[in-house]
Amino acid sequence: MDRTAVAAAFAALEAHRVEIAARRTVEFFAEDQKRFEHFSVRLDDLLYDYSKNRLTKATLGHLFDLARAARLEARREALFSGDKVNNTEDRPALHMALRNFSGEPVLVDGADVMPAVEAERAKVAAFAAAVRGGAIRGARDDNFTDVVNIGIGGSDLGPAMAARALSPFTSPELRAHFVSNVDGADIADTLAALDPARTLFIVSSKTFTTQETMANAASARAWVVASLGEAATADHFAAVSTRLDKVAAFGIRPERVFGFWDWVGGRYSMWSAIGLSLALAIGPERFEDFLRGGHDVDLHFRNTPLSHNIPVLMGLIGVWHRNIWDFPAQAIIPYDQRLARFPAYLQQLDMESNGKSVTRDGAPSPRATGAIVFGEPGTNSQHAFFQLLHQGTEVVPVDFLVAAEPIHADEKHHELLVANCLAQSEALLRGRSEWEARDILRAQGFSAARIDELAPHKTFSGDRPSSTLLYRRLDPRTLGRIVALYEHKVFVQSVIWDINPFDQWGVELGKELCNRLAPLVSDASADLAGLDGSTAGLIATRRALTAS
Ligand code: F6P
Repeated sequence: MDRTAVAAAFAALEAHRVEIAARRTVEFFAEDQKRFEHFSVRLDDLLYDYSKNRLTKATLGHLFDLARAARLEARREALFSGDKVNNTEDRPALHMALRNFSGEPVLVDGADVMPAVEAERAKVAAFAAAVRGGAIRGARDDNFTDVVNIGIGGSDLGPAMAARALSPFTSPELRAHFVSNVDGADIADTLAALDPARTLFIVSSKTFTTQETMANAASARAWVVASLGEAATADHFAAVSTRLDKVAAFGIRPERVFGFWDWVGGRYSMWSAIGLSLALAIGPERFEDFLRGGHDVDLHFRNTPLSHNIPVLMGLIGVWHRNIWDFPAQAIIPYDQRLARFPAYLQQLDMESNGKSVTRDGAPSPRATGAIVFGEPGTNSQHAFFQLLHQGTEVVPVDFLVAAEPIHADEKHHELLVANCLAQSEALLRGRSEWEARDILRAQGFSAARIDELAPHKTFSGDRPSSTLLYRRLDPRTLGRIVALYEHKVFVQSVIWDINPFDQWGVELGKELCNRLAPLVSDASADLAGLDGSTAGLIATRRALTAS
């Protein structure tokens, strides 16, 4: 990266912001009748509309200059070529290989990984088909009716999000459940409704050491053993991990152990065997459709010029908001109830990747990095936090996601849903001036004094940026495309900020301290000396509460 060129591109963007700061996006629409066409891109039946952001062609020009200064195209090629882009862990990030259907090799250290990827993909498909078809059965020869994925973070959020998103494609005969939290309520509440003889557990953990997953796996094992006996473990457990040595100790049959590779980051792993629970839920053919959706986007991202490249545009517009306008957050609002877990999934993808304060070489980052990502499905979110989005002192850019057609029979509901989605982005764009508010109040018959009082409360600044992803329907291929779009958006931003999006050292300290605190929590007589006052006080108070 050419730091001087990047700094100059940022300076040009700052100057450009000053130039257009007094302009309103509605004016841009009035001046350019084709703004929607000019500021939207299609990928087959998926449309990315970014025309409601305060930006012009000149803005995009400056953003592309920034991308070139950061050598985005070369870094993208390095990513796809298997370079060790994850420099702190000394490995490539090649999740794209897991959804590669091009027939082209993907090289890691000079060796093609595709034969191994395809073999594992086939093993997942065969296992999923056998469980769904009843060929693989429980210890008492029952067919499986429930699958419980035990994992956390990247070993949970992706499949859990996708199984819910694709629920119309699941079979009622094989229900998927997801247990992640070390809070015993999670596994207890899940198992309460299940029959051990018909339940298959998948222990999903890249490292096979994660405390939460190991605790939940041990509890699940005890639950199976208590009703079916020790030998049943082999029939009721499968595992997915990169650490096959550690899996063996759990007593899982080798043919039920599915592997992946250290060049797949946890939050990028749902395309690997970590997607086994999803493959079981929707079937192997649809799981392949999901992978193919991701591959569609890889081809688009790798081969499309910057100006029509959706992840590039998403990433650069995010940088425009984060660094030039200083907007701290990004809302993700799917008008799609089945995407209820999508914001949580994206929180890990985006915040664990780009929540960094140092650049790739360890120097302090000269500018703000990852935004705070949050969201909930519309319309529910309209009745919760949209007040702040419309009138709060912070401007929060919004990504809306909505399907043209529903996967249910009620057209009327879907029309209302779409209308709500469009109304929110329109309201954020237009706002309502104080004079418009006064006119409305006058027409409603309020007195002049009351109009003076109420008008400021009924005024909306407008020009609150939003983008919309509109797709035909939420099927497996479309979900694959959406997930891959955001993965590459996150990568684009990491290149501009010159940070490593593939490590996550920030989660380690809490894990270490938990290992130190766990014995102090368990043993009421353990010495609390050396802890800070708050932590010691909280442990002591809990001790008192549990003793009384
Ligand atoms: O929270 C940190 C993290 O390492 C994530 O990156 C990862 O997805 C999650 O823990 C689970 O890790 P594992 O799959 O190794 O259990």
